[in-house]
Amino acid sequence: MTHALDFPRPTWRDELIDEYAELSERLSTRIPCFEVPMHLPWIDAINQLKKQRGAVIMAHSYQSPEIFHGVADVTGDSLGLAQAASKCDAELILLCGVHFMAESAKILAPEKTVLIPSLEAGCSLASSITAEDVRALRRRHPGVPVVSYANTSAAVKAESDAICTSANAVQVVESMGAGKVIFLPDQFLGRHVAAQTEVELVLWDGRCEVHEKFTASQARHAREQFEARLVAHPECAPEVLAEADFVGSTTAMSRWLDQEKPARVALITECSMADNLRVQFPATEFIKPCHLCPHMQQITLPNIYAALRDLKHEIQVPRDTADRARAALQRMLAIGRRETVG
Ligand code: 13P
Ligand code: SF4
Repeated sequence: MTHALDFPRPTWRDELIDEYAELSERLSTRIPCFEVPMHLPWIDAINQLKKQRGAVIMAHSYQSPEIFHGVADVTGDSLGLAQAASKCDAELILLCGVHFMAESAKILAPEKTVLIPSLEAGCSLASSITAEDVRALRRRHPGVPVVSYANTSAAVKAESDAICTSANAVQVVESMGAGKVIFLPDQFLGRHVAAQTEVELVLWDGRCEVHEKFTASQARHAREQFEARLVAHPECAPEVLAEADFVGSTTAMSRWLDQEKPARVALITECSMADNLRVQFPATEFIKPCHLCPHMQQITLPNIYAALRDLKHEIQVPRDTADRARAALQRMLAIGRRETVG
């Protein structure tokens, strides 16, 4: 891929106001309106550079509104982004999310160039377990299949029989056809899955550093103080999930909102999610949680621009690891999205 491009520079032009009038209006309801003009030169330069590079920008639902609405071509939860990467036509994928998501894109689209704007965008769940930990668990539980959450490194995926996300965890576990399954690494998601299946689960003590902060009393407070319905991500602790009207992945949350049309809702999940959903559901009042994922926040418009300009940071996965991890990911993709919201 050529580096020789006439880079559009992020500079202010008065015409940006008219050219991005609709986007500015949308962003103004999500971020302080004086910030919007500061983002427009970056958004404009990234969109031009993206066209010149023939790139597709994929963004997770936890990305900031100026990224999610301003430059992303594909948005979704971790399953949606993996599905999109596996079908992507573009030669260059820029993944705005955390490292394991970019690795999954590379594993599923091995011929493509996959970039992530910051190598600092990790995940507390992914870093809670290593490939050697998985091998040790297999030795301790011979013959027991391993299902790993998508929030794991490529090396851990390569040691797993199948991958799941919160959108299909129960179905993936049951598809193993075993009475016992090693389920890694999210203990809270594991306990939520265990409550919905007859399959016995061997769990690991991984936790999401964002979702573990929510408490049951905060959830009750949101319900009582604001008369809000409660929607929680299954990475929250069981006592928090017990308070919720609905528990589901990021995409299932939006389907639930569409179906239930609550007057007021508290989303017990990462903070940017409420910002990004508000545009879709203007009739619903969102009680915003205050926990942002520090890893997702590593991705910014300036480092997206630099990534496209300098073609960095390219994701590389050793071939053998990628081949084994792909088999586990494809088992999940064959099952797809199975969550119900009714
Ligand atoms: P989703 O699978 O719902 O996108 O969640 C991924 C994640 O990292 C949540 O914290
Ligand atoms: Fe990982 Fe939690 Fe951030 Fe999701 S919100 S990427 S699980 S640390």
